[in-house]
Amino acid sequence: MQCMMKAICAQCLQRHVDPVTGDETFVFSCVNQDQPMDQVDFANLNSRLKANSVMEKITSLWLDYLIERWQPARV
Ligand code: FES
Repeated sequence: MQCMMKAICAQCLQRHVDPVTGDETFVFSCVNQDQPMDQVDFANLNSRLKANSVMEKITSLWLDYLIERWQPARV
């Protein structure tokens, strides 16, 4: 779960493909954690996780920059 607010940020969107009909659907993984494995598009999942990783690294670098620059007061 990314945002902890369920269906808000869409970073957890998961593509499903019905193996019989080929129909495509999307679910919020944070709301729907029990998903049928034969419908999960794992290639799409892999791509989404890599994209999320980029944003996590950028956010971490930004926080390091802010903390180094402004030296927040320690409580
Ligand atoms: S984790 Fe944010 S919408 Fe699912």
